[in-house]
Amino acid sequence: MTAVFRPRRSALYMPGSNARALEKARTLDVDCLILDLEDAVVPDAKALARTQIVDAVTAGGYGGREVVIRINGLDTPWGEDDLVAAVKAGPDAILVPKVNTPADLQRIAHKLSVCGASPDLNLWAMMETPEAMLNAGAIGACGKDPQVRLSCLVMGTNDLAKETRARLVPGRAVMVPWLMTCVAAARAGGVDILDGVYNAFQDEDGFVAECAQGAEMGMDGKTLIHPKQIGPCHAAFSPSEEEVAWARRINAEFDKPENADKGAIQVDGKMVERLHAEMGRRAIAIADAIAARG
Ligand code: COA
Ligand code: MG
Repeated sequence: MTAVFRPRRSALYMPGSNARALEKARTLDVDCLILDLEDAVVPDAKALARTQIVDAVTAGGYGGREVVIRINGLDTPWGEDDLVAAVKAGPDAILVPKVNTPADLQRIAHKLSVCGASPDLNLWAMMETPEAMLNAGAIGACGKDPQVRLSCLVMGTNDLAKETRARLVPGRAVMVPWLMTCVAAARAGGVDILDGVYNAFQDEDGFVAECAQGAEMGMDGKTLIHPKQIGPCHAAFSPSEEEVAWARRINAEFDKPENADKGAIQVDGKMVERLHAEMGRRAIAIADAIAARG
């Protein structure tokens, strides 16, 4: 099985009840779309949103964008129907809200195999409860279990603030321990992780600062609520031309036969180890995937 590299710099949420947004999504330059049935949809609109999402995903036209459906929890009146409908529509992934323990994901994964979901269908997990922060390592470790098919963690900072009573403050100092714990959990489990949303979508400076912070933390990308956030988000999470050129250069040096048995070499007056070449391969893969998309 060849793993196809997918950049996940940006993931735009849109309420499934908003037909215009679902349509508009086909033209937006975004890596992932999260079609929401959960927090962004009021109870009276749940059924309409489900129908609209199934119709939109079945109709397709989303090109290379990764299409993700966020379902309601199985402990709500809508969760089971959402799951069945999502499987029928065939998105790239199902995003599970309010995951507390690995068992929450295992239960959904089991239902997916029972209802004959495509093996290519992945699970994404919202990390947004106090329990999830305490169980982050175990949840991330589901990435190592092919039966659970976990491929991405998504920080739900609004719910996390609500449930813990921590405040959403500029700079997010109070959230950093949880954010970094989840980055470690994602890396240990071999899955991607996306940062939480920035609610004040008209505040571009604040958003740019938070994107930079997420990128520094090692997040793979950020969840978004408005199309105007896509450009600055990509600027923060795309490798720069210099970074990609340097990565290609050091990989080319290590590929030379005379360097085959060397762990460290000199390139342009700097010491470079094989771990740098390996780190650079991710930047190259992202750049190539973006270029291939055209
Ligand atoms: N996805 C796709 N298109 C979107 C969008 C989104 N999340 N948010 C806005 N748009 C579109 C609008 O439909 C509008 O399109 P148009 O000009 O072609 O009609 C355009 O972008 C400009 O929208 P704007 O008027 O600035 O915002 P709004 O008042 O229509 O919507 C929100 C503001 C916050 C309600 C909306 O952005 C939204 O619903 N965001 C997602 C919320 C969500 O899913 N939350 C759950 C996870 S945190
Ligand atoms: Mg939430």
